[in-house]
Amino acid sequence: MTSTEKDRVVIFDTTLRDGEQSPGATMTHDEKLEIAELLDDMGVDIIEAGFPIASEGDFRAVSEIAQRSKNAVICGLARAQLPDIDRCWEAVRNAAKPRIHTFIGTSPLHRAIPNLTQDEMAERIEQTVTHARNLCDNVQWSPMDATRTEWDYLCRVVEIAIKAGASTINIPDTVGYTAPVESADLIRRLIETVPGADEVVFATHCHNDLGMATANALAAVQGGARQIECTINGLGERAGNTALEEVVMALKVRGDIMPYTTSIDTKKIMHISRRVATVSGFPVQFNKAIVGKNAFAHESGIHQDGMLKNAETFEIMRPEDVGIAGTSLPLGKHSGRAALRAKLRELGVEVGDNQLKDIFVRFKDLADRKKEVFDDDILALVTATTEGD
Ligand code: KIV
Ligand code: ZN
Repeated sequence: MTSTEKDRVVIFDTTLRDGEQSPGATMTHDEKLEIAELLDDMGVDIIEAGFPIASEGDFRAVSEIAQRSKNAVICGLARAQLPDIDRCWEAVRNAAKPRIHTFIGTSPLHRAIPNLTQDEMAERIEQTVTHARNLCDNVQWSPMDATRTEWDYLCRVVEIAIKAGASTINIPDTVGYTAPVESADLIRRLIETVPGADEVVFATHCHNDLGMATANALAAVQGGARQIECTINGLGERAGNTALEEVVMALKVRGDIMPYTTSIDTKKIMHISRRVATVSGFPVQFNKAIVGKNAFAHESGIHQDGMLKNAETFEIMRPEDVGIAGTSLPLGKHSGRAALRAKLRELGVEVGDNQLKDIFVRFKDLADRKKEVFDDDILALVTATTEGD
């Protein structure tokens, strides 16, 4: 398959809905508008802007994002209840490209909550998806907790939703329970089994309770899903959702085994990651893939030496491709002479071999006492060795 034949995977961002549902991650109205604009600008195909019935504030945010959106489809979430769907439509209807996303929990555990039998729930799905479709020609339907729903019942309700007019069927792994082999297999079997499945887009929506959200989303794509639901920095309920930056970069870096493209301008990743961390109050862990402080930093001597000779030795993607100025080689006790010499050059200091040896000994001594050795520390060592201290 050549690169022009690659399948496109639609990126559906739910930072402003599922991400914001993370306890403590509430954003203000203006912050939501700013994040929506950044998402639109970076090429996200669909923005789930909120849950309009949840609060007056959510309704206002979704309505305003809908009015301002330039390129993205603007989606609102609604439970399988007619007033929810009406309210959602009211909020998204002014978007150039609106979508209603309606859902209901279909697993035995979730069916027990409204106390509906399988038949009663099937009827509710038929009625609510039809209602949504009468309002909007772009309807997404989700069987919440799909990965713990009985196979026969899942096929039955997906078929009902397709017949009632849903154009996207999202298969949520609501509690992060599935594993990659199963995730691929579930989508593949649904597409093979459910009548009408080839006329809709299948989406994957994974949570990270077992740390497998990214792997499960990518596996679902290999099983036939063509929409990934994700959030910036993996923000989301409990352990979070699939991280947008991870799936997008995985598809970019490993196009050899996953020949799919997205419309994301990856150079904008770092900026939006920082803004989401700031406005949500959820800092990004240092070793987080792609956007963590250490994702492109190397401290050990062997790694620094390799990086100075050829960046591909220890980096599988270029920091510039995700919007980071460059690799960093922080100096610490694991660093070697090559990195020290490079740092001295960067600071505009030329030293002979003997002085370098002397600085290196003092640097190692200092590094044993300090987590990180900064530029000023190095300059002080240069002065000390110059003065024959
Ligand atoms: O995790 C989930 O099941 C959801 C649905 C509302 C799609 O977020
Ligand atoms: Zn979710």
